[in-house]
Amino acid sequence: MRSGRFPAPAPLRVTLALLLWHLGLAGAIQWLGLTVNGSKVAWNEIQHCRILDWLVPDQFHLCRRNLELMQSIVHAAQQTKGVCQKSFSDMRWNCSSIEHAPNFTPDLLKGTRESAFVHALAAAAVSHSIARACASGELPICTCGSTPSEVPGPDFRWGGCGDNLRYGLQMGSAFADGPVKSRKSGMQAARLMNLHNNAVGRQALTDSLETKCKCHGVSGSCSVKTCWKGLQDLGEIANDLKAKYLAATKVTHRHMGSRKQLVPKELDIRPVRETELVYLVSSPDYCTRNPKLGSLGTQDRQCNKTSVGSAGCNLMCCGRGYNAYKESLVERCQCKYYWCCYVACKKCQRTVERYVCK
Ligand SMILES: *[C@@H]1O[C@H](CO)[C@@H](O)[C@H](O)[C@H]1NC(C)=O
Ligand SMILES: *[C@@H]1O[C@H](CO)[C@@H](O)[C@H](O)[C@H]1NC(C)=O
Ligand SMILES: *[C@@H]1O[C@H](CO)[C@@H](O)[C@H](O)[C@H]1NC(C)=O
Repeated sequence: MRSGRFPAPAPLRVTLALLLWHLGLAGAIQWLGLTVNGSKVAWNEIQHCRILDWLVPDQFHLCRRNLELMQSIVHAAQQTKGVCQKSFSDMRWNCSSIEHAPNFTPDLLKGTRESAFVHALAAAAVSHSIARACASGELPICTCGSTPSEVPGPDFRWGGCGDNLRYGLQMGSAFADGPVKSRKSGMQAARLMNLHNNAVGRQALTDSLETKCKCHGVSGSCSVKTCWKGLQDLGEIANDLKAKYLAATKVTHRHMGSRKQLVPKELDIRPVRETELVYLVSSPDYCTRNPKLGSLGTQDRQCNKTSVGSAGCNLMCCGRGYNAYKESLVERCQCKYYWCCYVACKKCQRTVERYVCK
């Protein structure tokens, strides 16, 4: 940006600063907008990469060079959305604003805790999706993960086809970190925050790698076992990241030695840990509607009368109280097995009481 010798008028400067601030923060997850059109595209021609016109050059080049990866990346965007909403369905902030990708509301545009979680989850999701696609044979450029270097236990041998975490991490970080690395504008603090949280997401993914086995031998005797290293489902990784979200550390951009780094804002003088999510801006309590802050409020959200947790009416409704209503459910019941071979059920109606926040 070249403003010449004339300083921009103050309101314009503020607008520009805000714009850069937003670019630095949300640009990194705009690719989640692939949930909109991504699955309608065949991804077999280079021009398909053009639908990503809001993507940065690095991602565009990655798309051109690795068209075959794009289905996995679209899948990752869809999974990020579904898994985020599921893991936050019991919270005041319920991840519904991810629907607007590639345009976000302020809850995900500023350096909030929520934004930290979504970046980490999205980064984990791309690598997860690619690592799994390698193992399932969907990708011509990669295969199963390499045989683990650990010595196998006495009762099993390595075999089968493990998820290719290595390739997933390599290509996943190139894609997810691309926007942060290639954009030189934007707030340095925001970029560091995004890169850090992306790495935390990938670490949670790596930590989820576990040994999975299959039994062989006479009628399930399991005398011979074949094992491989497989990743847990993204939902499990999201649970881990949600715990990190709840314990996230507020940081500030400050000199530590010769370089400026992110350091915890509170008194403890220590570097940021590689396992903790970090954020720069405190979030609203999400109790009341405030579009400027990206808060939808919790009016009309369903709550649980007996729970004392975050989904309980007390916390969910922020003390405003709740309304009860009755809902009738129709379910299959009194199922009976008829020989041979079918099951017949009756339909039963049941009334349940539901509660929604005032
Ligand atoms: C989806 O596709 C439509 C039509 O091709 C286009 O106008 C729109 O901008 C696309 N949306 C996104 C988020 O890419
Ligand atoms: C999340 O909460 C908002 C605001 O109360 C509500 O409109 C929306 O349906 C909820 N979304 C999901 C996915 O539960
Ligand atoms: C409400 O919370 C209680 C206690 O935590 C739990 O046992 C119950 O399954 C919850 N009900 C619903 C509808 O989620």
